This record gives sequence, C-alpha cells and structure tokens, in this order.
Amino acid sequence: MRLALTCQSWLESLVKNEAKKLGLESIRVRDRLIVGEGDETTMMALCMGSRFANRVYVVLEEERITDFDTFFSRAQALPWEQFLPRNMPIVVDGASSRSALSSISTIQSLTERAIRTHFTPAEWAEEREEVHVLVLILEDSTHFMIDVTGDPLHMRWYRKRSGEAPIKESLASGLVALSGWKYRDPLWDPCCGSGTIAIEAVLLAKNRAPGLDRHFRFQSLPWYDPEKHETVRQLLQKKEFSGEYLVYASDIDPEMIVIAQENARRAGVEDDIRFFTMDAKNPFPYLPETPFILTNPPYGKRLDQDDLRGLYTALDEKIFQGKWGGYITSIFSEVSRKGWKNRKLLNGREECRLWIREGDGA
Ligand SMILES: C[S@@+](CC[C@H](N)C(=O)[O-])C[C@H]1O[C@@H](n2cnc3c(N)ncnc32)[C@H](O)[C@@H]1O
Repeated sequence: MRLALTCQSWLESLVKNEAKKLGLESIRVRDRLIVGEGDETTMMALCMGSRFANRVYVVLEEERITDFDTFFSRAQALPWEQFLPRNMPIVVDGASSRSALSSISTIQSLTERAIRTHFTPAEWAEEREEVHVLVLILEDSTHFMIDVTGDPLHMRWYRKRSGEAPIKESLASGLVALSGWKYRDPLWDPCCGSGTIAIEAVLLAKNRAPGLDRHFRFQSLPWYDPEKHETVRQLLQKKEFSGEYLVYASDIDPEMIVIAQENARRAGVEDDIRFFTMDAKNPFPYLPETPFILTNPPYGKRLDQDDLRGLYTALDEKIFQGKWGGYITSIFSEVSRKGWKNRKLLNGREECRLWIREGDGA
C-alpha cells in the first residue's frame, strides 16, 4: 500500500526519519509530501507515532495527468468503494502547483462525480463525521489520496486550555528536535505559556507515541481492523523509554502556570516538569543544574516595544549564561543576532524564525 504524510517544509527531514523508524519504506520527499510503501500496520503506526507531520494519507493512485478527460476516467477507475465507508459524507479537497490542471474547483467536482459513481444515493450520506479525499497535483503528478488521520496530527488533546498564542504541538516538538537539546541535560522554557514546549520535550525524550489514545479517521473505514490497531498500540508503547528527564517551565503569568500544569497532567508528564512563576527579566534563578534554554517569547503584538526589547535582551543574556547555548523563536524582526543560526518557519500562518546560538557545550 502506498502511504503519504504531509508536513511543513522545515520539518521534512524529521518527518522522513520518523516515518522510516515507524516502518515506511522506499521513501521519496517532494514539496512537503513524504511518500513511501507500507501496509495497514505501517499506516496505523504513522498515525499514532508521527509527532512532526500534519496528516497521513493512503495514496490510491499517483500518475502524470495533464487533461481533465484523462483525469476523470482515471478518478472513476479507482476502487473507491474498497477504501471509503458507505453512509459517511465524502469531502474532496484539491491542491495544485506548477501543473497543467490548476482549477481546484474542477479537480474537486470531477473527483466527487467520479467517486459518486461507486455509491448508490442511499450510501452517499450527508451527515455525521466526514472522510476527506485529497487530490494533490505537483508538476502534473496527480495523487488521489484518502485522509486516514481525521483531526490533524498536531492535536494531541492534552491542551484543553491555552494562552493567547499557543504554538502547535508538532511545531513545538520540531523546535525541540532541531534545537540540539541533549535529553540528559535539563531544559528550561522561561516563557512557557500553556507548556507546549516543555510537554513536547518530555514526550520526545521518552519516545512516547503522541497518538496512542486519540481517535483516527481510519477507525471509520471499511477495512479497519481493531485487533491490529491494538497490536500496533502495544508495540509503540513498548518503545517508550523509562529514563528520567528534567524540564523547567516558567511564565510571568501565574494563571498560565496553572493551565500548563493541567496540560502536563493530562499529557502524563507532570512529574518530569518543574513549574514556577517568574519574570524572565529577573536574574537567573537558582536551579540545581544549568539548563539548556528553549522558548517562544511574546511576539510584540501586545507588549510595548521597550518592554519587548528588555525581555529579549534578558533572554539573550540567560541563553549566554546557559552551559549549552540556547535557542529562541521570534518573528520580531528587530531581534537579529549576529553569529546565531536562524531558519524560517511557520507557526500557523505566522512567519517565525528559529534563532540558534550554539554554546561551548552544544
Ligand atoms: C507566545 S506565548 C508562549 C506560548 C507557548 N509556547 C504555548 O504554546 O502556549 C508567550 C508567553 O510569554 C509570557 N511572558 C510575557 N512576558 C514575560 C516575561 N517578562 N517573563 C516571563 N514570561 C513572559 C506570556 O505570559 C505568554 O504566556
């Protein structure tokens, strides 16, 4: 079976390596799409175990197509009824880049018409949860894919409450993985908000599969095998490390600390994180060991520019005091650090930068 994952471009290599560990073979990467071969077990492992990707798909067909007549006949010839559930609304999404077929509405309506020929009107339901088909065309290479994820993979469901600008869980996980943090060292997020970076750091260090307890769309598909699902869940659970990790998380707002603690409890990592309330502009607090600092400070929409400059200067100083160097995310354009590595990334639709300062021990 051909399987695919979508992700942000800066996370491609992390997604590829993770997918390989989860059993995906013959992997190809192209335009934020990671395609490979696997079976139903691989598909379930990718859904439950991928922490950096957006979604997982079953690819029914991948073919070069440049005209709509061929497009419709290829779409119609696919065995949709073997893969899609009866009595469940089917929504067709489309995306096209650098391709002859570029009208998304035509791609969607032709695909829907082709799929409908496989179902009676009674079987084509208009209510309840939906299953999504994605037609993705990249340089004429047309992928007909079924979304087996449902809610996107970044939704881990431990974050019931958050502050004003929480980062996506998959993004936080990617930041931690790219930061160079060594799991045996303590990590500190001094502007932790709802605790996403701290929680994802522990989940990553423990190698805990992020989707063990959530629902996936594949559970509604006709070929779903609950026993196989349970077997894959247990296999992933066995891969979890039992080591102890130390993460500090603080915020100026005591209410955020309460929220972050609740989130950590729901994620099952509250014993690994020490929370405290602190203004990051204050002197470096006493901590038994010097931590590696990774944080997502405010961007400046709500803070006055002088306050923001003061906060960033204080964070820079703390990162320089950190034994292992530090990393920081920001789109605040005036914050530019000579000698620091940086890379562009997206937090939702917001363009951000990951600033990396490699210290003596990094
Ligand atoms: C962009 S949010 C962090 C969001 C977080 N990554 C999450 O996923 O929820 C920035 C956080 O910095 C905190 N903050 C603002 N000024 C601060 C300061 N001087 N010291 C410590 N925290 C501060 C805010 O209360 C807010 O929770």
